[in-house]
Amino acid sequence: MNPVDLITKKRDGQALTADELQFLVSGYVQDNIPDYQLSAFLMAVYFSGMTADETAIFTQIMRDSGRVLELSAISGFKADKHSTGGVGDKVSLVLAPLVASAGLVVPMISGRALGHTGGTLDKLESIPNFRTDLTISELTNQLQKIGVALIGQTDDLCPADKKIYALRDATGTVQVIPLITASILSKKMAAGIDALVLDVKAGKGAIFKDQEKAWQLARMLVNTAAQFQLKTTAIITSMQQPLGNAVGNWLEAKEAIETLNGNGPADLAEVTLTLGAQMLVHGRISENLSDARAILKSKLENGDAFNKFVEIVEAQGGDLTVIREPHSYPAAKHYSVVKSPADGVISDILCREIGKISMELGAGRNAVTDPVDYTSGIYLNKKVGDRVSSGDILATAFSNEPEVLKKNESRLQKAFKVMDDEIEPEPLIYALIDTSGERKWDPNLQDFTSP
Ligand code: URA
Repeated sequence: MNPVDLITKKRDGQALTADELQFLVSGYVQDNIPDYQLSAFLMAVYFSGMTADETAIFTQIMRDSGRVLELSAISGFKADKHSTGGVGDKVSLVLAPLVASAGLVVPMISGRALGHTGGTLDKLESIPNFRTDLTISELTNQLQKIGVALIGQTDDLCPADKKIYALRDATGTVQVIPLITASILSKKMAAGIDALVLDVKAGKGAIFKDQEKAWQLARMLVNTAAQFQLKTTAIITSMQQPLGNAVGNWLEAKEAIETLNGNGPADLAEVTLTLGAQMLVHGRISENLSDARAILKSKLENGDAFNKFVEIVEAQGGDLTVIREPHSYPAAKHYSVVKSPADGVISDILCREIGKISMELGAGRNAVTDPVDYTSGIYLNKKVGDRVSSGDILATAFSNEPEVLKKNESRLQKAFKVMDDEIEPEPLIYALIDTSGERKWDPNLQDFTSP
């Protein structure tokens, strides 16, 4: 076999066989195929796509490129959640302890910030001394002891995805549905879970700007997972504006702590409860979504969810003082506020732009190896739909670099659109997709209904 033949075969719109895909993936992981040839293949997939069968085979090859965890010795139902990424998305920090406090076992494997989106690992590592690099045996011990662990992708889990994702990031081939599907599912399946809930983001700050693509991605994820008998549900949620008010690592960790204490922003709590309820239904802890929601709400109210978060931080070596007293955390050296230029209603917040500004302030990275500044970021004092008067504070920017702060002030102000008229609120949760079909979210019923 020869890489050029396989690149041209894909370029010309043909499906590759299992052996051919295996040849490409193993060849690349073992450094027998250079970056430029795999890049050409990935770009050919961007234009020609992959069939459903090819996507499943590619997923399996990626999963089997490393260790596949066997967690059957740990009692309990193992479930995880994965988000396709967004701005201000700190759901994992709230959700993992919350559903674990309700009885699920959660081996959550997360990623780092890249581009305009944040990453759970950086948010966790903003907690002094918090370790995300647990070994597999530390992971299984912790799951046995407290039922939940939040870790990064280790070198022995899905090494093919690690290498190929970095190449995709550098070659404009991240936004490719079959490649995203294989990347997400291979990692999740390697972690030995029984069920998966996917938070597929739709809207201006999501992986695809085109709404319809979120539905296509969700369908492909659900259908591919079904081929591996992995119980999977995709929930499509809004990324039209950042989730919650905080954007930036420690700012988000602090907001997650507030949410675990019942004082977080309503949109963050709502998305977390919706995803968590589905996880509890998969694990048969509840028969239906509304019972599951009631359990989760009680865990937030009675302190069980927060206490589980404390257990996680303690088990992973983090500093408990800042968890118990978030105000003791050192703030960024500089901050500035941007104000509304007019009276009116916030009609839009440019989500991607907020993510990019936060990244420039120091909270994000251009390359996976860049360092991040945990204290910088943006606090949104206003969200879409809020009424404002001229001079009201729209957002507060934090950075350790005063000149970067200054440079981004007017950019941050322009990310807020103020209109005279009231606006129609947009949905926060759109739909649920599983192998039985698609249902629409009804905010009044707080449940999904068939069309
Ligand atoms: N998240 C992943 O883990 N992989 C992708 O390809 C895109 C988002």
